[in-house]
Amino acid sequence: MTQQDAGRVVMVTGASSGIGAATARCLAHAGITVVMCARRLELLEELRMTLPNAATHRCLAVDVTDAAAISDAITTTVAHYQRLDAVICNAGIGITAPIAEMDYHQFQQVLAVNVGGFLHIVRATNPVFKITGSGHYIVISSVVGQHALPYNGGYSASKAALERLCQALRIELRGSGIGLTVIRPGTVATEFFEHRIGPDGERRIAKSNGMSPNVVAQSVLYALERRPRVIYPRLRDRLMSICADIFPSLTDVVLARSITWQQKTGVDEMSSPVDSD
Ligand SMILES: NC(=O)c1ccc[n+]([C@@H]2O[C@H](COP(=O)([O-])OP(=O)(O)OC[C@H]3O[C@@H](n4cnc5c(N)ncnc54)[C@H](OP(=O)(O)O)[C@@H]3O)[C@@H](O)[C@H]2O)c1
Repeated sequence: MTQQDAGRVVMVTGASSGIGAATARCLAHAGITVVMCARRLELLEELRMTLPNAATHRCLAVDVTDAAAISDAITTTVAHYQRLDAVICNAGIGITAPIAEMDYHQFQQVLAVNVGGFLHIVRATNPVFKITGSGHYIVISSVVGQHALPYNGGYSASKAALERLCQALRIELRGSGIGLTVIRPGTVATEFFEHRIGPDGERRIAKSNGMSPNVVAQSVLYALERRPRVIYPRLRDRLMSICADIFPSLTDVVLARSITWQQKTGVDEMSSPVDSD
């Protein structure tokens, strides 16, 4: 634990699984007090009991699409700890569908969580950060916010929108003492792929190795200490992003070959590996 970490209070949204849970663990082990938010309160409580100094951390049932619930969570946290040093904006969901078949309401659902959730957090937190002239937003975006993947256009669009909001907010926050870091993971091995929404009876089949959510959690810890603008937790993803900028047509060919969309034919296919972000 660094001197800086002692006494810090950090809120993590989407802490009930995957990257959020790994981040809560990582921060707690670094001596940081964690306020864990998600809809599944029982999972948060289970996680809290495994953390060092379990009694100091808090769990809050929050749906990030509910502006009032987020506002309550921020108020409760500040009232309880008398401080809030950072918010890890991590809660998110995916959607897989060919663009021409994507359900508009499902797309809106994704935007409500991935984009609307972030806006609600900023609206509720900024007044608190402004009072102290400090604070830090750490936003879990994705490599797909820079380059869309086929059959993931809806999700990619949500992360692209998130990225542009962050870009504007960073400029608006200049000189305020409030920081903003965007983290762009590639594929991470989490429940994310099971929770994705999309048309019934079909799924995208792709092969890819996901990194451990602990790698992203370490990036969050680094971001808290150093406040960089952007982090790619894995060098490979940074290099692929650069290649996609330089060779866009070649990138299209590679993606078209590596990610396909198949009609579901039976029970066996439900257990096929689907793990590309
Ligand atoms: N896995 C990847 O390959 C990958 C790659 C790049 C970026 N990401 C991003 O990383 C973030 C975390 O994803 P993950 O991979 O850790 O997936 P995950 O294991 O499915 O975790 C998603 C978290 O978001 C929470 N959540 C979902 N909808 C919510 C809502 N309406 N209100 C509050 N919380 C909500 C879930 O908690 P509850 O269900 O309990 O509410 C869960 O804790 C997401 O923003 C995702 O886009 C993931």
